[in-house]
Parts: sequence; C-alpha cells; structure tokens
Amino acid sequence: MALYALGDLHLSFQAGKPMDAFGKVWKHHEKKIEKYAGQIVKPEDTLVLTGDHSWGRKLAECQEDLAFIERLPGRKILLRGNHDMFWDANKTDRLNKEYQGKLFFLQNNFAAYEDYALVGTKGYTFEGPFYLDRRGALAGWDEEQEKRAKKLVKREMARLHESFQQAKAAGYEKFIMFLHYPPTNILEKTSPFTEIAEEYGVTAVVYSHCHGESRFGDSIRGTFHGIRYMLVSGDYLDFHPALILP
Ligand SMILES: [Fe+2]
Ligand SMILES: [Fe+2]
Repeated sequence: MALYALGDLHLSFQAGKPMDAFGKVWKHHEKKIEKYAGQIVKPEDTLVLTGDHSWGRKLAECQEDLAFIERLPGRKILLRGNHDMFWDANKTDRLNKEYQGKLFFLQNNFAAYEDYALVGTKGYTFEGPFYLDRRGALAGWDEEQEKRAKKLVKREMARLHESFQQAKAAGYEKFIMFLHYPPTNILEKTSPFTEIAEEYGVTAVVYSHCHGESRFGDSIRGTFHGIRYMLVSGDYLDFHPALILP
C-alpha cells in the first residue's frame, strides 16, 4: 500500500482546451497520465490529485474528465485548484455524496491513510503584481491585490484548521497536508501555511500549481524546519505520480 500525488492534470475532454501550447511536455499529456499512473499506482494505493483537474466550467462540462480520473488505479482523492470552477466550495458534501465510492473531494474534512490523516485545501499565495525599479529591485506591489490575498489566505487557513481539528478529534496524530497553491510565494520564506504545518507537526506538505521551468522554484522544495515539501505539478513530474508515503 502506498500514497501518491500528482497535480494539475488540466484535462479537457469536453472543454476543448488542449495544453499543447504550453510546451512539449503537455503533448498528449492525458495519455502520459494514464500510462504512468497505470504503471506506478496499484489498486490498493491512494492517489491524491492536487487540483486544476478540468477546464470545464460546470460539472456537466467535466463529466468525461472526472470519469477519466475515476478510471485511474487506486483510491482517488481530489483537492480544489484555482481552475476547478465545477467545485462550489460550499457544496463539497454534495460532491462527496454524488461521487461516493468513486472519488473523494478533500476540503473541510480529512481522509485516512493508515495512521495518517490527509488534510488539504486550495491555499493561496499572493503572486503580485510586483513592481521593480530600473535596476530590477523590488519597489512595491499592488496593495489592493495584497489585501484581497490576505482575506483569501485567512479563509483557507480556517478550512485547514477545521480539517486538522476533525482529524485530531478522530484520534489522528500524524498528518500529510495538501495544498493546490505553493505554501509560500517567491518573496516569502515562511507563511501562515508553513506555520500551520509546523503547529500540527505534519510529515509533508504537498503542493502543485507551479507550471514551467521558470516557476518550479517559486516555493520550498526539500526539507524545511523538519518538514518535507514536495512539488507535484504534472509537468514538473512529466506526469509520473510522486511517492509520498510507502
Ligand atoms: Fe494548474
Ligand atoms: Fe493552479
């Protein structure tokens, strides 16, 4: 039994938005997902998909994408990405009822994996716009956007706290924390997300959202304050699910 993660599938069986324009790695990427997940993930394993599943804007436009995910091996757990318009944040329970036994939608709840609780939420990082001076040094940023970002971070933190509390109340002491957005932006060393990870003593923080060579290093990768940080964006992994726990 093993725990794997992979993010940003960006499927578009119905929405007709191929990803080829974003580089060679995206050419027929759905075939790679099918092939590598098929080789790596066993039926008894768990696969967490860390958001940006589908380009469909409504659930009806995501049916084939979600059916594709259902057919991947193992137990599938989905996190909400910034492009997952089909997933109304207030109606996660409804999705979980509809897809019971097929897919599990992770938000304001938790999933058990052996003696670990898997908790997760979309997260948020303030990505600017940042303003640079003539020498390329940081001269400021969009304060309105920053204000908005602070509100979103607060809401996401409340969702995470709720999930950790539910898991603790159920007796779990070991955690893996999943985010769609990276835990920090390019200017930050720490954030409320790294702080909550430390507060609950999580084993690993797993995130995606960063696409393309130039963005892969936007946040923490490797061990920081004793916690393992893993980027699992599909294009970063050439669509091979990453092993989180054996
Ligand atoms: Fe994405
Ligand atoms: Fe994203």
